[in-house]
Amino acid sequence: MGGPARPEPGRRRPAHRHRLHDHRRSVVVTDRAQLAETFRRFADQQCAGLSPLYATLSHAVARSNDLLDLAARTRPGQPAPNLLLGGIHHILRRGVQHPLAPYFTGHEHLDADHADSLLADFCRRHRARIERIISTRSVQTNEPGRCAVLLPAFAALQQQLDERSIRIVDVGASAGLNLLWNRYTYDYGGQRLTLPDSDPATVLACDIRGGTPPLSIDAARFVRPVGIELHPVDVTDTEATEWLVSLTWPEQTARMRTLNAALALASRTPPTILAGPAEEHLADVVAETPIDQHLVFVFSWSIYQIFGSPGGRDRLAATLADLSQQRPIHEISIGHFGHDTPRMIMASYDAGISRSDVVAHCDVYGNWLDWLTDPAHPGI
Ligand SMILES: C[S@@+](CC[C@H](N)C(=O)[O-])C[C@H]1O[C@@H](n2cnc3c(N)ncnc32)[C@H](O)[C@@H]1O
Repeated sequence: MGGPARPEPGRRRPAHRHRLHDHRRSVVVTDRAQLAETFRRFADQQCAGLSPLYATLSHAVARSNDLLDLAARTRPGQPAPNLLLGGIHHILRRGVQHPLAPYFTGHEHLDADHADSLLADFCRRHRARIERIISTRSVQTNEPGRCAVLLPAFAALQQQLDERSIRIVDVGASAGLNLLWNRYTYDYGGQRLTLPDSDPATVLACDIRGGTPPLSIDAARFVRPVGIELHPVDVTDTEATEWLVSLTWPEQTARMRTLNAALALASRTPPTILAGPAEEHLADVVAETPIDQHLVFVFSWSIYQIFGSPGGRDRLAATLADLSQQRPIHEISIGHFGHDTPRMIMASYDAGISRSDVVAHCDVYGNWLDWLTDPAHPGI
């Protein structure tokens, strides 16, 4: 799956780098300690309540220098815990027999003592295969559930903008499943929302934890959607989509079902995706989108990979402000942006002048939304 994203001139490389990768014999102890901390944080903050298995395995990795050195084979800027555990899941899903396998069905409890020895044994037996996966693949998790968070942002924009049609450009689109937002059925805390092209079998449930998100939307006004993706995932290729399924967590069976349903929809009507680095495509899209269409760039959990972290959103904002010398641009971005709680930012750029608001707090997978009706936090 290709090499790391090329840095643009003047763009800083992501700060989070795994130097262990470069020279195994010059392992830097502080890097190993940092990586151990990354796995512990992943276990305690991201897996808590969602994946007891991944929490237990992540703590096991954090305790083992050997497993940390293996995890350090991930490419700079890639989240090592997601890749290592996704790689193991991927191998097990291919039918490899090992005592670790039953725990990946999502039903068996794995205790910490057992985890250390099982994980070490699995990684010893399959080390070369794991290394190949984590050093070449990237976290491309494509989560259609995030459309339940994006839809109110689209509705809000539609309310604010004049009657011209709206073009959504999903940057870091993976398989492009979020471009199919008008094909899903939504359930906002029991309130069902269908659009003219909604598939009744693909239901995205989202709990409204606060505020009143706008949900009234005219999908027909959204035209010529397109994705931009460094490594587009071909939705008609089951080998390629299998990697996306492997990136879901074993206990998240409902998420896996939704993903499979969305992939089935997408394979019948594949979304349009421009292959290549966003850095190369953004200016072209700005130039070729007619002025009688509003242009909206969506960055759903992709800024940290495209523009690095920390500070990636600032670099994106500077890029879009620059491009807005040619025409007005809108941005909808979702991510952590240095905060514990994920958030959605809506921004507008015109002639180099920008304005941005945090409009919502939300779940990583779109399971809940807190709409900040009166955004108190301009910018981030
Ligand atoms: C974590 S995934 C998010 C996918 C999708 N937006 C979603 O929310 O479900 C981030 C995606 O950004 C892509 N990506 C990383 N660097 C990129 C770049 N320089 N240009 C375009 N896409 C990039 C990755 O390949 C990956 O598919």
